[in-house]
Amino acid sequence: MPDYSALAAAIESLTHGESDEVALMATVACEVHHSDARFDWTGFYRVVGPELLKIGPYQGGHGCLVIPFSRGVCGAAARTGKVQLVPDVDAFPGHIACASSTRSELVLPVFGRGGRLIGVFDIDSDQPAAFTEEDAREMAAILASVFGAI
Ligand code: SME
Repeated sequence: MPDYSALAAAIESLTHGESDEVALMATVACEVHHSDARFDWTGFYRVVGPELLKIGPYQGGHGCLVIPFSRGVCGAAARTGKVQLVPDVDAFPGHIACASSTRSELVLPVFGRGGRLIGVFDIDSDQPAAFTEEDAREMAAILASVFGAI
């Protein structure tokens, strides 16, 4: 489990005063990815049009470029505005496998100022049931702190 207090402090220090969305996403993806060996793919999908996500900054192997809100775990997070904590991706209807090694996934909606949906934050693991409610809670707090005012 990452030291979430230290991770949040590091991200705050690196992003303080920054409002550029891509710079913020790149920094969060990098710091989160390298904070825990469970995280095999860490990145953002951005809302680029009605019901449409497009890949943003990420760490790990290549990710698919475009995801409609109607598909995948990312689409579910964007469509519902709810965290998707998926212990077994093979049991998730419509899961999009960017890597055949992925076994579990955590996807969180990313909200900006006024609750605007900016995109989703996706973490994949090659380990089954890798993610916990604490991961979801702590990641949501970091995302709100970084993106909530832009
Ligand atoms: N698994 C995601 C797609 C993104 S790749 O994992 C990077 C999904 O089902 O939406």
